[in-house]
Amino acid sequence: MATSEDGYFDEAVAARYDSDEEMFDPAVVDPVVDFLAELAGSGRALELGIGTGRIAVPLAQRGVPVHGIDMSRAMVARLREKPGAERIGVTIGDFATTTVDDTFSVAYLVFNTISNLTTQEAQVACFRNVAAHLAPGGCFVIEVGVRGGEPLQVFDLTDTHVGIDEYDAATQRLVSHHFELVDGRWERLSIPFRSASPGELDLMAELAGMRLRERWSGWKREPFTSASRKHVSVWEKPADS
Ligand SMILES: C[S@@+](CC[C@H](N)C(=O)[O-])C[C@H]1O[C@@H](n2cnc3c(N)ncnc32)[C@H](O)[C@@H]1O
Repeated sequence: MATSEDGYFDEAVAARYDSDEEMFDPAVVDPVVDFLAELAGSGRALELGIGTGRIAVPLAQRGVPVHGIDMSRAMVARLREKPGAERIGVTIGDFATTTVDDTFSVAYLVFNTISNLTTQEAQVACFRNVAAHLAPGGCFVIEVGVRGGEPLQVFDLTDTHVGIDEYDAATQRLVSHHFELVDGRWERLSIPFRSASPGELDLMAELAGMRLRERWSGWKREPFTSASRKHVSVWEKPADS
């Protein structure tokens, strides 16, 4: 159950978020930033679910003006502590519906965060919200995992963290269970998601007036195949819209 108005990313989660060395490794972050900076060109970028600024801070350092939306004040407080964060504007709210008084050449939603919206209606609303913020010719980028049908999947297993996904193909409901060793005690956090196939996301883009431009299995434009476990997709708002 979400414990506060910060949702699942409350103070305790925010305090630990940046300690995941793998996610913050330049080998992981740099290709994301390269990809987004290229799409942003000389325009502005909007990050939905900006969190502690894992991507936004280095993207802003590249000279791309970045604005973020996030519902978690605790996560955004961590962003605010970082050098360079003063250049990044943040609006607190639900990214499915929150509006920003600006237009962007790229909007992005990385690290499975589209799935934090647990209904189809909210995901469709998110695509429509993004389309309304994009300049003609602007792009929406999503990075999200692809589910097989298996009901249980261990996605992480270390001395301090065990991650298990529980998936119900009939309802597309996914729950990520995190068991984390904190100060010698195992703590559990279970976060609900809604899994949507690449094709369903394409339809949401279509409903919002956008069309698929590129789909890869990674940020270095690796081919997307039936064996891919995630995709990086780019939808475009028509230049004549
Ligand atoms: C997994 S973190 C990703 C943070 C950052 N994008 C990154 O790549 O490290 C997901 C973020 O999305 C935010 N979030 C989840 N659902 C949201 C919603 N409906 N509206 C606004 N923010 C949301 C959370 O508060 C959290 O900061």
